[in-house]
Amino acid sequence: MPEDGFGRDINYLRLSLIDNCNLRCVYCMPMEGLTFAPAPELLTPEEFATVARAAATVGFHKIRLTGGEPLLRADLVEIVEKISRIDGITDLSMTTNGVRLPQLAHRLKAAGLHRVNIHLDTLDRDHLKRVMRLGSFDAIWSGIEAAQAAGLHPIKINVVVVRDYNEDDVVDMARLTMDRDWHVRFIELMPLGGGECARLSLEQYVSNTQTRERIEEVLGCLTPILSHDPSDEARNYRLEDAPGVVGFISPVSEPYCGTCNRMRLTADGQFHLCLLNDDELDVKRALRNGGGEEAVARILLKAIAFKPTGHRLSQGHAPQHRSMYQTGG
Ligand code: 5AD
Ligand code: SF4
Repeated sequence: MPEDGFGRDINYLRLSLIDNCNLRCVYCMPMEGLTFAPAPELLTPEEFATVARAAATVGFHKIRLTGGEPLLRADLVEIVEKISRIDGITDLSMTTNGVRLPQLAHRLKAAGLHRVNIHLDTLDRDHLKRVMRLGSFDAIWSGIEAAQAAGLHPIKINVVVVRDYNEDDVVDMARLTMDRDWHVRFIELMPLGGGECARLSLEQYVSNTQTRERIEEVLGCLTPILSHDPSDEARNYRLEDAPGVVGFISPVSEPYCGTCNRMRLTADGQFHLCLLNDDELDVKRALRNGGGEEAVARILLKAIAFKPTGHRLSQGHAPQHRSMYQTGG
């Protein structure tokens, strides 16, 4: 098991497959002025597979595919097929906005994807248009239903809570867990990447203490569920007699750096050592200079050794270099 300089077991790799997205959530991507990595700079399915194999050899067992929006990769099914075949990878999941899942969910399941986290900020159609902008409720909801029908479970829904946009809609989101076995997880806004989205994320921040109070006021007591996985970033609860789970992910008010087990790879082939830090190590150059699994494993071990800890988000200090759509959250 690879251990970093702070005694943490790093065994969870997040692969960002593409830095573009078909939505433009207010806190993540500006409507204009975006630049994306040119296609030749993005890693190929074989390059991602080489990184995943190297990760498995050094003890990683959990891989998540992220973006931007991973469903925009035309070769996504091939990427999933290649990674799901690797010995030692016991959990292969994806974070998505779900819009293209009706066309893809069954093929992804057949290719070996285990489960998905789908991003949906509100059930209110008008509010959704304001916060997820190019998104539509019907498109995302159809995606969730497609994931369910394909057996990509457990279904986890990510809700980013934004003051003046969807802060009161959290009650209806939590209510979904009362008759479904879904996990509905509320995420605190993080101000990443400088620029207007980072500014909005600072200004419209809502703490998960407030979100939890709002939910309990209407739906009653949330009972904690003891976590089996210390690196689960969510604190999980259940409403009375509910089959589903209500989770709170609180990177700002309750940093979980101490139990972080993640390494990230950007779509353009850089190990990104921490979401909340700008440090990176280039792996693409090694891949394109003919380096195979062993060369990648060496760089990965170095990335793990250099992984930092601690952040100062609550004091307003945030990384400037990459935004959420470039690191995959
Ligand atoms: N703060 C917190 N979460 C965010 N996400 C995107 N931008 C932000 C932000 N500024 C979330 C989305 C997505 C995941 C990758 O990150 O909900 O599910
Ligand atoms: Fe796309 Fe997710 Fe960013 Fe929204 S939060 S713009 S869905 S990458």
